Amino acid sequence: MSAKTRFACTECGYISVRWLGRCTDCGGWNTLVEETINSKVAFADKNKSLTACPISNISIEHQSRFTTGIHELDGALGGGVVPGSLVLLGGDPGIGKSTLLLQMASELSRSGRKVLYVSGEESVQQIKMRSIRLNVEENLLFLLAETDIDQIEANIRETSPELVIIDSIQVVIKAEISASPGGVGQVRECASQMMRLAKMNGPAIFLVGHITKEGALAGPKVLEHMVDTVLYFEGERNNSFRILRSVKNRFGSTNEIGIFQMEGDGLKEVANPSEMFLSNRHSGDVPGSVVVSTIEGNRPLLVEVQALVCTSSFGSPRRMTAGVDYNRVSLILAVLEKRVGLHIGGQDAYVNAVGGVRLDEPAADLGIALALASSFKEVSVVGGLVAFGEIGLTGEIRPVPNLEKRINEAARLGFSRCIIPKSLSNYDPGNNMKVIRMNTLQEAIGAALV
Ligand code: TYD
Ligand code: MG
Repeated sequence: MSAKTRFACTECGYISVRWLGRCTDCGGWNTLVEETINSKVAFADKNKSLTACPISNISIEHQSRFTTGIHELDGALGGGVVPGSLVLLGGDPGIGKSTLLLQMASELSRSGRKVLYVSGEESVQQIKMRSIRLNVEENLLFLLAETDIDQIEANIRETSPELVIIDSIQVVIKAEISASPGGVGQVRECASQMMRLAKMNGPAIFLVGHITKEGALAGPKVLEHMVDTVLYFEGERNNSFRILRSVKNRFGSTNEIGIFQMEGDGLKEVANPSEMFLSNRHSGDVPGSVVVSTIEGNRPLLVEVQALVCTSSFGSPRRMTAGVDYNRVSLILAVLEKRVGLHIGGQDAYVNAVGGVRLDEPAADLGIALALASSFKEVSVVGGLVAFGEIGLTGEIRPVPNLEKRINEAARLGFSRCIIPKSLSNYDPGNNMKVIRMNTLQEAIGAALV
């Protein structure tokens, strides 16, 4: 009997019985590759049916989490590593995934846990060199350079570590499957083999996954629903600031984030990010600079927004943004023009969130608008000011969540006034913080630029 084959999209995992030039699901061109259907593997779990039983009868052996020794990573995982869990760590190449996991491995082995680091991309010598730089020299840390998943499994069974790192899942292969390495077929099969191993009272397994240009986990979108936890490591390459974000977690909340800084000797945890973002601010107040209070995960973060507005030398004005949404800035410029009456629409405008952080929240609108107005009028905002609020198309300032957290963070860092949306909450932190509640952008500009 001839082997059955099918075609799988390497981007989204779509399965087709025929080859197609364009994936009908994700629209990618030339992304379908042929793979053999291994019916034995695909249906292996089907016969293992158990009878249903009441939830109250199910006992859980007490499985306590263990700490990774890196506080920010524990937080993103929801309070440490759950034994037998499968975690996917995604991120752009060069962002620091291997560095983070090697540091974690080092901390774990230092606390007496056996860790196996499997690398399919670097030789053990290369990892050793990196580990010297990171100051890792532990006897309980085992290295293996291997890409064959069956060999990897054999090694895991032999060394029986408490935690395994596979760097990366895209390079491991299962020899019996004809699909090319990194293709959906391979990745899915290798990941499910690791999942079966982890769930059989095995080690916790961390898989590294690369991200495509479009920002999705390369190939294995399919992986995201297979694993217990999905973490993304983000940041700009020319900036040392990194955020570890949890986008799925079966064992905790996805609001948790971890904040790191990449330094010469590895990743350092940032316990006080607002302080870090504001550390290089101008001491004298300059036009075009406003501090906003934003929420990342469930943590407040103060970030400086800078704007530069100047006369356009071309017919159509230039707009450029870094760290803030381009369309959002266009909208705010239109509101400033139409509702506030500033003739800003024909000017060049540049907006930048300082420090490589992304301000995706609408709550940053007010800060952006004040920075633009401040630069346009060449007047700096009043000293000690923090602003936040969403701007509507009629020029109104709309309420945003987490009011208290934002105000408290500003108060903690020594700011003395907050311009915020008028809302039902009349929270007042007292002390030296003056909370100014505003209905419209026009009023807010009046209060901020004096
Ligand atoms: P790496 O962990 O190899 O990234 P990934 O596994 O996500 O591809 O980290 C790559 C970058 O980090 C590399 O360009 C250099 C930088 N780096 C440092 O700045 N300091 C360090 O101590 C290390 C190990 C790396
Ligand atoms: Mg790497």
